[in-house]
Amino acid sequence: MAPKNFSSFIHSIWILLFVFGVASAQLTPDFYNKTCPGAFAAIDKVVRAAIANDPSMGASLLRLQFHDCFVNGCDGSVLLDDTPTTKGEKTAAPNNNSLRGFDVIDRIKAEVESLCPGVVSCADIVIITARDSVVAFGGTPWTVLLGRRDSPIANFSGANTDIPAPTLNLSNLITSFANKGLNAIDLVALSGAHTVGQARCINFRNRIYNDTNIDPEYAKALRGICPITGGDDNLYSFTESATHFDNDIYHDMIKKKVLLHSDQELYNGGPLDRQVEAYSKNPEAFAADFGNAMINMGNISPLTGTSGQIRLNCRKVN
Ligand code: HEM
Ligand SMILES: *[C@@H]1O[C@H](CO)[C@@H](O)[C@H](O)[C@H]1NC(C)=O
Ligand SMILES: *[C@@H]1O[C@H](CO)[C@@H](O)[C@H](O)[C@H]1NC(C)=O
Ligand SMILES: *[C@@H]1O[C@H](CO)[C@@H](O)[C@H](O)[C@H]1NC(C)=O
Ligand SMILES: *[C@@H]1O[C@H](CO)[C@@H](O)[C@H](O)[C@H]1NC(C)=O
Ligand SMILES: *[C@@H]1O[C@H](CO)[C@@H](O)[C@H](O)[C@H]1NC(C)=O
Repeated sequence: MAPKNFSSFIHSIWILLFVFGVASAQLTPDFYNKTCPGAFAAIDKVVRAAIANDPSMGASLLRLQFHDCFVNGCDGSVLLDDTPTTKGEKTAAPNNNSLRGFDVIDRIKAEVESLCPGVVSCADIVIITARDSVVAFGGTPWTVLLGRRDSPIANFSGANTDIPAPTLNLSNLITSFANKGLNAIDLVALSGAHTVGQARCINFRNRIYNDTNIDPEYAKALRGICPITGGDDNLYSFTESATHFDNDIYHDMIKKKVLLHSDQELYNGGPLDRQVEAYSKNPEAFAADFGNAMINMGNISPLTGTSGQIRLNCRKVN
Protein backbone atom coordinates (compact mmCIF):
# COMPACT_ATOMS: atom_id res chain seq x y z
CA MET A 1 0.00 0.00 0.00
CA ALA A 2 1.42 3.38 -1.04
CA PRO A 3 2.08 5.79 1.84
CA LYS A 4 -0.57 8.20 0.63
CA ASN A 5 -3.25 5.49 0.53
CA PHE A 6 -2.04 4.11 3.83
CA SER A 7 -2.47 7.47 5.49
CA SER A 8 -5.93 7.89 4.03
CA PHE A 9 -6.71 4.36 5.29
CA ILE A 10 -5.61 5.41 8.79
CA HIS A 11 -7.67 8.55 8.40
CA SER A 12 -10.75 6.44 7.59
CA ILE A 13 -10.14 4.32 10.68
CA TRP A 14 -10.13 7.45 12.80
CA ILE A 15 -13.38 8.59 11.20
CA LEU A 16 -14.92 5.17 11.94
CA LEU A 17 -13.67 5.26 15.55
CA PHE A 18 -15.07 8.73 15.91
CA VAL A 19 -18.45 7.72 14.51
CA PHE A 20 -18.69 4.61 16.71
CA GLY A 21 -17.35 6.53 19.67
CA VAL A 22 -20.18 9.01 19.30
CA ALA A 23 -22.67 6.22 18.67
CA SER A 24 -21.56 4.43 21.83
CA ALA A 25 -22.33 7.51 23.98
CA GLN A 26 -25.97 6.64 23.47
CA LEU A 27 -28.91 6.59 25.79
CA THR A 28 -29.62 3.30 27.59
CA PRO A 29 -32.46 2.03 29.83
CA ASP A 30 -30.07 0.99 32.62
CA PHE A 31 -27.93 4.13 32.78
CA TYR A 32 -28.66 4.69 36.50
CA ASN A 33 -28.90 1.02 37.57
CA LYS A 34 -25.56 1.15 39.37
CA THR A 35 -25.28 4.85 40.16
CA CYS A 36 -28.81 5.62 41.35
CA PRO A 37 -31.09 2.57 41.41
CA GLY A 38 -33.52 4.31 43.77
CA ALA A 39 -34.20 7.19 41.39
CA PHE A 40 -37.12 5.53 39.58
CA ALA A 41 -39.17 4.85 42.72
CA ALA A 42 -38.35 8.29 44.14
CA ILE A 43 -39.49 10.07 40.96
CA ASP A 44 -42.67 8.01 40.63
CA LYS A 45 -43.54 8.75 44.26
CA VAL A 46 -43.29 12.52 43.83
CA VAL A 47 -45.22 12.40 40.53
CA ARG A 48 -48.04 10.41 42.12
CA ALA A 49 -48.21 12.73 45.14
CA ALA A 50 -48.32 15.79 42.87
CA ILE A 51 -51.15 14.28 40.80
CA ALA A 52 -53.05 13.21 43.92
CA ASN A 53 -52.83 16.80 45.13
CA ASP A 54 -53.78 18.30 41.73
CA PRO A 55 -54.91 15.88 38.99
CA SER A 56 -54.35 18.48 36.26
CA MET A 57 -50.61 18.34 36.99
CA GLY A 58 -50.14 15.03 35.15
CA ALA A 59 -50.83 16.64 31.78
CA SER A 60 -48.54 19.57 32.53
CA LEU A 61 -45.68 17.22 33.41
CA LEU A 62 -46.18 15.24 30.20
CA ARG A 63 -46.08 18.43 28.13
CA LEU A 64 -42.71 19.43 29.64
CA GLN A 65 -40.96 16.70 27.64
CA PHE A 66 -42.29 18.10 24.37
CA HIS A 67 -41.33 21.68 25.18
CA ASP A 68 -37.88 20.59 26.38
CA CYS A 69 -37.06 18.25 23.50
CA PHE A 70 -38.18 20.58 20.68
CA VAL A 71 -35.81 23.32 21.82
CA ASN A 72 -32.11 22.42 21.39
CA GLY A 73 -32.98 18.78 22.12
CA CYS A 74 -33.86 17.04 25.39
CA ASP A 75 -31.37 18.90 27.55
CA GLY A 76 -33.39 20.34 30.45
CA SER A 77 -33.13 23.83 28.91
CA VAL A 78 -36.85 24.48 29.49
CA LEU A 79 -36.27 24.32 33.24
CA LEU A 80 -33.78 27.22 33.43
CA ASP A 81 -35.02 30.42 35.03
CA ASP A 82 -34.22 33.84 33.61
CA THR A 83 -31.12 35.46 35.10
CA PRO A 84 -30.16 39.13 35.00
CA THR A 85 -28.00 38.38 31.94
CA THR A 86 -29.74 35.42 30.25
CA LYS A 87 -33.28 34.76 29.18
CA GLY A 88 -34.79 31.36 29.81
CA GLU A 89 -37.49 29.69 27.71
CA LYS A 90 -40.28 30.01 30.25
CA THR A 91 -41.64 33.31 28.89
CA ALA A 92 -41.40 32.35 25.21
CA ALA A 93 -44.82 32.53 23.53
CA PRO A 94 -45.72 28.81 23.67
CA ASN A 95 -44.72 28.64 27.36
CA ASN A 96 -45.64 31.96 28.94
CA ASN A 97 -48.59 31.72 31.36
CA SER A 98 -48.99 28.13 30.25
CA LEU A 99 -46.16 25.76 31.08
CA ARG A 100 -46.16 24.53 34.68
CA GLY A 101 -44.88 21.77 36.93
CA PHE A 102 -41.48 23.33 37.64
CA ASP A 103 -42.06 23.07 41.39
CA VAL A 104 -42.74 19.34 41.00
CA ILE A 105 -39.47 18.94 39.08
CA ASP A 106 -37.72 20.81 41.93
CA ARG A 107 -39.17 18.39 44.49
CA ILE A 108 -38.07 15.42 42.40
CA LYS A 109 -34.58 16.86 41.97
CA ALA A 110 -34.27 17.41 45.74
CA GLU A 111 -35.27 13.77 46.45
CA VAL A 112 -32.93 12.39 43.84
CA GLU A 113 -30.03 14.61 44.96
CA SER A 114 -30.43 13.36 48.53
CA LEU A 115 -30.28 9.76 47.26
CA CYS A 116 -27.35 10.18 44.85
CA PRO A 117 -25.82 13.65 44.65
CA GLY A 118 -24.84 14.97 41.23
CA VAL A 119 -25.85 11.86 39.30
CA VAL A 120 -29.31 12.17 37.71
CA SER A 121 -29.72 14.94 35.13
CA CYS A 122 -32.68 17.30 35.00
CA ALA A 123 -33.10 16.32 31.34
CA ASP A 124 -33.61 12.67 32.33
CA ILE A 125 -35.96 13.67 35.17
CA VAL A 126 -38.21 15.37 32.58
CA ILE A 127 -38.26 12.17 30.50
CA ILE A 128 -39.00 9.83 33.44
CA THR A 129 -41.62 12.23 34.83
CA ALA A 130 -43.49 12.35 31.51
CA ARG A 131 -43.67 8.55 31.39
CA ASP A 132 -44.73 8.25 35.03
CA SER A 133 -47.47 10.86 34.52
CA VAL A 134 -48.96 8.90 31.64
CA VAL A 135 -48.85 5.71 33.70
CA ALA A 136 -50.44 7.48 36.69
CA PHE A 137 -53.26 8.51 34.32
CA GLY A 138 -53.85 4.87 33.36
CA GLY A 139 -51.68 4.85 30.23
CA THR A 140 -49.33 2.09 29.09
CA PRO A 141 -45.70 2.27 30.29
CA TRP A 142 -42.73 2.40 27.93
CA THR A 143 -39.04 1.87 28.63
CA VAL A 144 -37.28 5.22 28.92
CA LEU A 145 -33.76 5.65 27.53
CA LEU A 146 -31.42 7.57 29.83
CA GLY A 147 -28.00 9.18 30.10
CA ARG A 148 -28.79 12.72 28.99
CA ARG A 149 -26.88 15.64 30.46
CA ASP A 150 -28.06 19.18 31.10
CA SER A 151 -27.48 22.18 28.91
CA PRO A 152 -25.72 25.23 30.32
CA ILE A 153 -27.85 27.45 28.05
CA ALA A 154 -31.51 28.11 27.26
CA ASN A 155 -32.85 29.24 23.88
CA PHE A 156 -35.69 31.76 24.12
CA SER A 157 -35.89 32.43 20.38
CA GLY A 158 -35.66 28.71 19.64
CA ALA A 159 -38.68 28.12 21.90
CA ASN A 160 -40.60 30.70 19.88
CA THR A 161 -39.67 29.26 16.50
CA ASP A 162 -39.42 25.50 17.07
CA ILE A 163 -42.45 24.64 19.23
CA PRO A 164 -45.37 24.36 16.79
CA ALA A 165 -48.30 26.76 17.23
CA PRO A 166 -51.95 25.65 17.28
CA THR A 167 -52.63 27.84 14.22
CA LEU A 168 -50.47 25.61 11.99
CA ASN A 169 -51.87 23.62 9.10
CA LEU A 170 -51.05 19.98 8.38
CA SER A 171 -48.06 20.63 6.13
CA ASN A 172 -46.60 23.07 8.67
CA LEU A 173 -47.03 20.45 11.43
CA ILE A 174 -45.40 17.70 9.38
CA THR A 175 -42.47 20.04 8.61
CA SER A 176 -42.12 21.12 12.22
CA PHE A 177 -41.85 17.50 13.35
CA ALA A 178 -39.62 16.51 10.40
CA ASN A 179 -37.24 19.32 11.44
CA LYS A 180 -36.78 17.37 14.68
CA GLY A 181 -36.35 14.00 12.97
CA LEU A 182 -39.91 12.88 13.70
CA ASN A 183 -42.22 11.46 11.04
CA ALA A 184 -45.95 11.77 10.41
CA ILE A 185 -46.73 8.68 12.49
CA ASP A 186 -44.88 10.28 15.41
CA LEU A 187 -46.93 13.44 14.83
CA VAL A 188 -50.26 11.62 14.95
CA ALA A 189 -49.25 9.42 17.89
CA LEU A 190 -47.77 12.26 19.95
CA SER A 191 -50.82 14.44 19.35
CA GLY A 192 -52.59 11.74 21.36
CA ALA A 193 -51.09 13.53 24.39
CA HIS A 194 -54.02 15.92 23.98
CA THR A 195 -56.22 13.17 25.39
CA VAL A 196 -55.25 14.78 28.71
CA GLY A 197 -55.00 18.37 29.88
CA GLN A 198 -56.51 21.70 29.01
CA ALA A 199 -56.09 24.69 26.74
CA ARG A 200 -56.70 28.40 27.22
CA CYS A 201 -59.31 30.32 25.29
CA ILE A 202 -56.62 32.38 23.54
CA ASN A 203 -55.48 29.18 21.83
CA PHE A 204 -58.91 28.06 20.56
CA ARG A 205 -60.79 31.35 20.04
CA ASN A 206 -60.08 31.61 16.36
CA ARG A 207 -61.14 27.99 15.88
CA ILE A 208 -64.52 28.30 17.59
CA TYR A 209 -65.46 31.55 15.80
CA ASN A 210 -63.86 31.04 12.39
CA ASP A 211 -63.18 27.37 11.59
CA THR A 212 -65.76 25.50 9.55
CA ASN A 213 -64.53 21.97 10.27
CA ILE A 214 -65.94 22.05 13.81
CA ASP A 215 -69.12 20.53 15.24
CA PRO A 216 -71.54 23.50 15.51
CA GLU A 217 -72.96 22.50 18.91
CA TYR A 218 -69.47 22.05 20.29
CA ALA A 219 -68.38 25.44 18.95
CA LYS A 220 -71.48 27.08 20.38
CA ALA A 221 -70.92 25.63 23.84
CA LEU A 222 -67.29 26.77 23.78
CA ARG A 223 -68.26 30.32 22.86
CA GLY A 224 -69.93 30.47 26.26
CA ILE A 225 -66.56 29.83 27.86
CA CYS A 226 -64.41 31.78 25.43
CA PRO A 227 -65.90 35.16 24.46
CA ILE A 228 -64.78 37.10 21.37
CA THR A 229 -62.84 39.43 23.63
CA GLY A 230 -61.56 38.82 27.13
CA GLY A 231 -61.24 35.57 29.07
CA ASP A 232 -57.99 34.70 27.31
CA ASP A 233 -56.92 32.40 30.13
CA ASN A 234 -60.26 30.59 30.55
CA LEU A 235 -59.51 26.88 30.49
CA TYR A 236 -61.31 24.05 28.78
CA SER A 237 -60.43 20.34 28.75
CA PHE A 238 -59.20 18.76 25.52
CA THR A 239 -61.40 15.71 26.12
CA GLU A 240 -64.12 14.63 28.53
CA SER A 241 -61.67 12.53 30.55
CA ALA A 242 -58.81 14.99 30.79
CA THR A 243 -57.04 13.04 33.54
CA HIS A 244 -57.36 9.63 31.93
CA PHE A 245 -54.84 8.61 29.29
CA ASP A 246 -56.79 6.89 26.52
CA ASN A 247 -57.43 7.35 22.79
CA ASP A 248 -60.39 9.75 23.20
CA ILE A 249 -58.82 12.59 21.27
CA TYR A 250 -58.94 10.55 18.03
CA HIS A 251 -62.67 9.92 18.48
CA ASP A 252 -63.07 13.64 19.06
CA MET A 253 -61.10 14.49 15.89
CA ILE A 254 -63.46 12.29 13.88
CA LYS A 255 -66.45 14.01 15.54
CA LYS A 256 -64.83 17.42 14.84
CA LYS A 257 -64.93 18.14 18.55
CA VAL A 258 -61.36 19.14 19.30
CA LEU A 259 -60.20 22.44 20.76
CA LEU A 260 -57.16 23.06 18.64
CA HIS A 261 -57.13 23.93 14.97
CA SER A 262 -53.85 21.98 14.69
CA ASP A 263 -55.42 18.78 16.08
CA GLN A 264 -58.32 18.96 13.61
CA GLU A 265 -55.77 19.38 10.80
CA LEU A 266 -54.70 15.77 11.38
CA TYR A 267 -58.22 14.65 10.44
CA ASN A 268 -59.47 16.98 7.74
CA GLY A 269 -59.64 14.92 4.57
CA GLY A 270 -55.86 14.63 4.30
CA PRO A 271 -53.29 11.82 4.23
CA LEU A 272 -53.31 11.22 8.01
CA ASP A 273 -57.06 10.55 8.33
CA ARG A 274 -56.44 6.81 8.09
CA GLN A 275 -53.93 6.91 10.95
CA VAL A 276 -56.36 8.84 13.16
CA GLU A 277 -59.07 6.27 12.38
CA ALA A 278 -56.67 3.43 13.16
CA TYR A 279 -55.84 4.85 16.60
CA SER A 280 -59.52 5.54 17.32
CA LYS A 281 -60.33 1.87 16.68
CA ASN A 282 -57.25 0.31 18.20
CA PRO A 283 -56.19 1.66 21.61
CA GLU A 284 -53.39 -0.92 21.90
CA ALA A 285 -51.84 0.22 18.61
CA PHE A 286 -52.05 3.80 19.83
CA ALA A 287 -50.47 2.94 23.19
CA ALA A 288 -47.58 1.12 21.52
CA ASP A 289 -46.97 3.89 18.97
CA PHE A 290 -47.26 6.61 21.62
CA GLY A 291 -44.52 4.99 23.73
CA ASN A 292 -42.29 4.57 20.68
CA ALA A 293 -42.89 8.16 19.61
CA MET A 294 -42.05 9.43 23.12
CA ILE A 295 -38.78 7.47 22.87
CA ASN A 296 -38.13 8.98 19.40
CA MET A 297 -38.85 12.47 20.73
CA GLY A 298 -36.60 11.70 23.73
CA ASN A 299 -33.75 10.96 21.32
CA ILE A 300 -33.67 14.50 19.89
CA SER A 301 -30.07 15.80 20.23
CA PRO A 302 -29.25 14.66 23.76
CA LEU A 303 -26.05 15.84 25.42
CA THR A 304 -24.14 12.70 26.47
CA GLY A 305 -20.72 11.60 27.68
CA THR A 306 -18.86 14.64 28.96
CA SER A 307 -20.99 17.28 27.18
CA GLY A 308 -23.06 19.62 29.30
CA GLN A 309 -23.35 19.07 33.04
CA ILE A 310 -25.50 17.46 35.74
CA ARG A 311 -27.24 20.50 37.17
CA LEU A 312 -27.58 20.49 40.94
CA ASN A 313 -30.59 22.82 40.74
CA CYS A 314 -32.71 22.35 37.62
CA ARG A 315 -33.42 26.09 37.46
CA LYS A 316 -29.76 27.21 37.32
CA VAL A 317 -26.56 26.27 35.57
CA ASN A 318 -23.88 25.01 37.98
C1 HEM B 1 -48.48 18.75 17.32
C2 HEM B 1 -48.23 19.98 17.71
C3 HEM B 1 -48.74 20.52 19.01
C4 HEM B 1 -49.36 21.71 19.18
C5 HEM B 1 -49.67 22.73 18.10
C6 HEM B 1 -49.69 21.81 20.57
C7 HEM B 1 -50.33 22.90 21.15
C8 HEM B 1 -50.79 22.94 22.43
C9 HEM B 1 -51.53 24.04 23.00
C10 HEM B 1 -51.88 25.33 22.29
C11 HEM B 1 -51.84 23.71 24.27
C12 HEM B 1 -52.64 24.55 25.27
C13 HEM B 1 -51.71 25.49 26.00
C14 HEM B 1 -52.46 26.60 26.69
O1 HEM B 1 -53.55 26.93 26.24
O2 HEM B 1 -51.91 27.17 27.66
C15 HEM B 1 -51.30 22.40 24.52
C16 HEM B 1 -51.43 21.72 25.70
C17 HEM B 1 -50.88 20.48 25.92
N1 HEM B 1 -50.03 19.80 25.09
FE1 HEM B 1 -49.71 20.20 23.16
N2 HEM B 1 -49.28 20.70 21.22
C18 HEM B 1 -48.68 19.88 20.31
C19 HEM B 1 -48.07 18.66 20.58
C20 HEM B 1 -47.95 18.12 21.84
C21 HEM B 1 -47.12 16.99 22.17
C22 HEM B 1 -46.19 16.28 21.20
C23 HEM B 1 -47.30 16.74 23.49
C24 HEM B 1 -46.66 15.70 24.35
C25 HEM B 1 -46.30 14.52 23.92
C26 HEM B 1 -48.27 17.68 23.97
C27 HEM B 1 -48.78 17.70 25.24
C28 HEM B 1 -49.68 18.65 25.69
C29 HEM B 1 -50.37 18.53 26.96
C30 HEM B 1 -50.31 17.34 27.90
C31 HEM B 1 -51.11 19.70 27.11
C32 HEM B 1 -51.99 20.09 28.30
C33 HEM B 1 -51.12 20.81 29.30
C34 HEM B 1 -51.84 21.15 30.59
O3 HEM B 1 -53.02 20.82 30.78
O4 HEM B 1 -51.16 21.78 31.43
N3 HEM B 1 -48.62 18.53 22.95
N4 HEM B 1 -50.66 21.96 23.38
C1 LIG C 1 -31.98 -2.00 35.48
O1 LIG C 1 -33.01 -1.72 36.41
C2 LIG C 1 -34.30 -1.96 35.92
C3 LIG C 1 -35.30 -1.45 36.94
O2 LIG C 1 -34.97 -1.87 38.21
C4 LIG C 1 -34.44 -3.45 35.61
O3 LIG C 1 -35.74 -3.71 35.11
C5 LIG C 1 -33.39 -3.84 34.59
O4 LIG C 1 -33.43 -5.23 34.36
C6 LIG C 1 -31.99 -3.44 35.05
N1 LIG C 1 -31.04 -3.67 33.98
C7 LIG C 1 -29.88 -4.27 34.16
C8 LIG C 1 -29.01 -4.41 32.95
O5 LIG C 1 -29.52 -4.70 35.24
C1 LIG D 1 -45.43 36.85 29.75
O1 LIG D 1 -46.68 37.10 30.35
C2 LIG D 1 -46.66 38.21 31.25
C3 LIG D 1 -47.99 38.22 32.00
O2 LIG D 1 -49.06 38.12 31.11
C4 LIG D 1 -46.40 39.46 30.47
O3 LIG D 1 -46.38 40.58 31.32
C5 LIG D 1 -45.05 39.33 29.78
O4 LIG D 1 -44.81 40.43 28.94
C6 LIG D 1 -44.98 38.06 28.95
N1 LIG D 1 -43.62 37.86 28.50
C7 LIG D 1 -43.26 37.82 27.24
C8 LIG D 1 -41.81 37.64 26.97
O5 LIG D 1 -44.05 37.91 26.33
C1 LIG E 1 -31.73 28.34 19.15
O1 LIG E 1 -32.65 27.67 18.32
C2 LIG E 1 -32.56 28.06 16.97
C3 LIG E 1 -33.71 27.39 16.22
O2 LIG E 1 -33.62 25.99 16.31
C4 LIG E 1 -31.20 27.61 16.41
O3 LIG E 1 -31.09 28.00 15.07
C5 LIG E 1 -30.10 28.27 17.24
O4 LIG E 1 -28.85 27.77 16.84
C6 LIG E 1 -30.31 27.97 18.72
N1 LIG E 1 -29.36 28.78 19.49
C7 LIG E 1 -28.51 28.26 20.36
C8 LIG E 1 -27.61 29.20 21.07
O5 LIG E 1 -28.46 27.06 20.61
C1 LIG F 1 -50.06 26.04 5.23
O1 LIG F 1 -49.69 27.30 5.74
C2 LIG F 1 -48.63 27.93 5.03
C3 LIG F 1 -48.32 29.24 5.72
O2 LIG F 1 -47.90 29.03 7.02
C4 LIG F 1 -49.01 28.16 3.59
O3 LIG F 1 -47.93 28.70 2.89
C5 LIG F 1 -49.43 26.84 2.96
O4 LIG F 1 -49.94 27.09 1.66
C6 LIG F 1 -50.50 26.16 3.80
N1 LIG F 1 -50.72 24.83 3.25
C7 LIG F 1 -51.92 24.34 3.01
C8 LIG F 1 -51.98 22.98 2.42
O5 LIG F 1 -52.94 24.97 3.28
C1 LIG G 1 -61.65 35.44 12.49
O1 LIG G 1 -60.86 35.64 11.33
C2 LIG G 1 -60.68 36.99 10.97
C3 LIG G 1 -59.97 37.02 9.64
O2 LIG G 1 -58.76 36.30 9.71
C4 LIG G 1 -59.94 37.72 12.08
O3 LIG G 1 -59.76 39.07 11.76
C5 LIG G 1 -60.72 37.59 13.38
O4 LIG G 1 -59.97 38.15 14.43
C6 LIG G 1 -61.00 36.13 13.68
N1 LIG G 1 -61.90 36.05 14.83
C7 LIG G 1 -61.54 35.53 16.00
C8 LIG G 1 -62.55 35.54 17.10
O5 LIG G 1 -60.44 35.04 16.19
